[in-house]
Amino acid sequence: MVGIYGGSSAPDMPPRVQVPLGSEDAMTLQFPTTPEASEPTAEVATEPAGEVTGKLGPTGRPMPVLPTPKPVTAHGNARVISMCNQKGGVGKTTTTINLGAALAEFGRKVLLVDFDPQGSLSVGLGLNPHEMDMTIYNLLMDPETTLDEVVVPSGVPGMDLLPSNIDLSAAEVQLVHEVAREQTLQRVLAPAIAEYDVILIDCQPSLGLLTVNALTASHGVIVPLECEYFALRGVALLKATIDKVKQRLNPGLEVDGVLGTMYDGRTLHGREVLERLVQAWGDQVFHTVIRRTVKFSDSTVVGEPITTYASGSSGAEAYRQLAKEVALRCLDA
Ligand SMILES: Nc1ncnc2c1ncn2[C@@H]1O[C@H](COP(=O)(O)OP(=O)(O)OP(=O)(O)O)[C@@H](O)[C@H]1O
Ligand SMILES: [Mg+2]
Repeated sequence: MVGIYGGSSAPDMPPRVQVPLGSEDAMTLQFPTTPEASEPTAEVATEPAGEVTGKLGPTGRPMPVLPTPKPVTAHGNARVISMCNQKGGVGKTTTTINLGAALAEFGRKVLLVDFDPQGSLSVGLGLNPHEMDMTIYNLLMDPETTLDEVVVPSGVPGMDLLPSNIDLSAAEVQLVHEVAREQTLQRVLAPAIAEYDVILIDCQPSLGLLTVNALTASHGVIVPLECEYFALRGVALLKATIDKVKQRLNPGLEVDGVLGTMYDGRTLHGREVLERLVQAWGDQVFHTVIRRTVKFSDSTVVGEPITTYASGSSGAEAYRQLAKEVALRCLDA
């Protein structure tokens, strides 16, 4: 599997293109239009005309009506979704926690998987990394360990967590010697699919073996992107990695959406970046955009999702709206 991991093999790296903001040619070079990007993928885009509000959303497209997700009568047949971007600090962990909590509010049974040795997801839900008996590391490395031994409640009703801590960094090294090393997480999560409606995997900021495991185990991937210029750099490499995993390991893998985070609509800069995201990824960009607010950092300090810490805040509402959009696109479809 030489060359699938970002950065490990120069010939597989797409040429890096440095361009000034606003250059249309450069957009084409940096983000070649794919069939997925140009087709109206989401149900959002094929809504009957009456279902579109007519108002322009922050992405510059008409905002569709996003219905409250359908209630579920029985759980199971989970969709596995990875939050993936090799750039650090773009909102992967914040999105995993808060999208998960919002989906749980809508009655979905949710499992969050902390797949980052930094353990931020676990800490963000109030766990102490030094007091964990079992983590995802045990599940990956010891076939005798069962999910039930490792899953813990997240504090949010209907949402559980597979925690992680620094031990996971050893797994990346040890897995290299395993047979079917890219399928290890897929094997570990297989029994959870029948129990949950959604499984969200919080990836680490790299495109190494752990992230390839997450993409191999997933039906879909959500790419959170900070709405600032440098966020666009490296996206071509991420896209190439997703495409390679799709070709070589997981043909069913889909991009469920690209999420603009830390958006500041008051600046021209923020609006321009969002515009370029839509040019590059088309309808794969979620209509929902997460604005920049300090409430997210505050909620991490108390170890809670924003949906419970500041339930009425605009940040909580944004993640509820994202949950509706995700449900419409790929859960209730
Ligand atoms: N919409 C937002 N507004 C303001 N701050 C935010 C927002 N989303 C996330 N943050 C803050 O930005 C920081 C990085 O967010 P987060 O940890 O979710 O990113 P990440 O992509 O998971 O990072 P890493 O790559 O290190 O895992 C955190 O302190 C978080 O509280
Ligand atoms: Mg993170």
